Amino acid sequence: MEHIELQGKTIFVTGVAGFIGSNLAARLLKDFDCKVVGLDNMNDYYDVNIKEWRLEQLKNDRFTFIKGDLSDKGTIEEIFEKYNPAVVVNLGAQAGVRYSITNPDAYIQSNMIGFYNILEACRHYPVEHLVYASSSSVYGSNKKVPYSTDDKVDNPVSLYAATKNLTSLWHMQIQSFITFLPLACAFLLFMDQLVGPIWLILVSQIS
Ligand SMILES: NC(=O)c1ccc[n+]([C@@H]2O[C@H](COP(=O)([O-])OP(=O)(O)OC[C@H]3O[C@@H](n4cnc5c(N)ncnc54)[C@H](O)[C@@H]3O)[C@@H](O)[C@H]2O)c1
Repeated sequence: MEHIELQGKTIFVTGVAGFIGSNLAARLLKDFDCKVVGLDNMNDYYDVNIKEWRLEQLKNDRFTFIKGDLSDKGTIEEIFEKYNPAVVVNLGAQAGVRYSITNPDAYIQSNMIGFYNILEACRHYPVEHLVYASSSSVYGSNKKVPYSTDDKVDNPVSLYAATKNLTSLWHMQIQSFITFLPLACAFLLFMDQLVGPIWLILVSQIS
């Protein structure tokens, strides 16, 4: 993937109060002279105090936090209109496998409608790069280990996996859709469930 120039740019990070989003925002603010606009709905899937503490650590003149929901198209459009982000990193999502059995709505709203709203906004505003997160759960009940990005992903065993899988499929679909746009797009596959270091695999990039 080519080097992305971040100096002086605005980066929009969704799920910014989350584990990965907050660490990414902190690193961006520390290492680059960029602005970070972060969105999070501060849901109580786990202790909200942890999310508030993370936001506290991010306080900075170059950081703007917006409490809002990815599934609210109006909110997403307003953010793109007002802040004109050059780079969008979509980390806001409803995670968890077991939780999806009792709370399916959260996955449809955040992972499907929310992701769709981000794609649409990227289509209508001059975004240079879009990065978003997938999960090793897309490999479902595959027996073969270690996983490979060439493995089949057509056997999800949870709604979480199915919604993550859909984002990957949409990635393929937007490949043709983005052909006409100057937008580079990549999705990241997080290969760890909070145990040990997170592995990132840059699955593909299109531009
Ligand atoms: N951490 C891991 O081990 C792991 C593994 C595989 C995939 N991932 C993916 O990486 C991304 C980030 O994961 P994380 O570990 O930081 O999760 P996290 O739950 O800590 O962070 C996600 C954040 O998104 C926010 N959010 C959820 N739905 C939202 C919505 N509709 N609108 C706005 N904000 C919303 C939550 O409040 C939360 O703060 C997710 O897409 C997740 O599926 C993470």
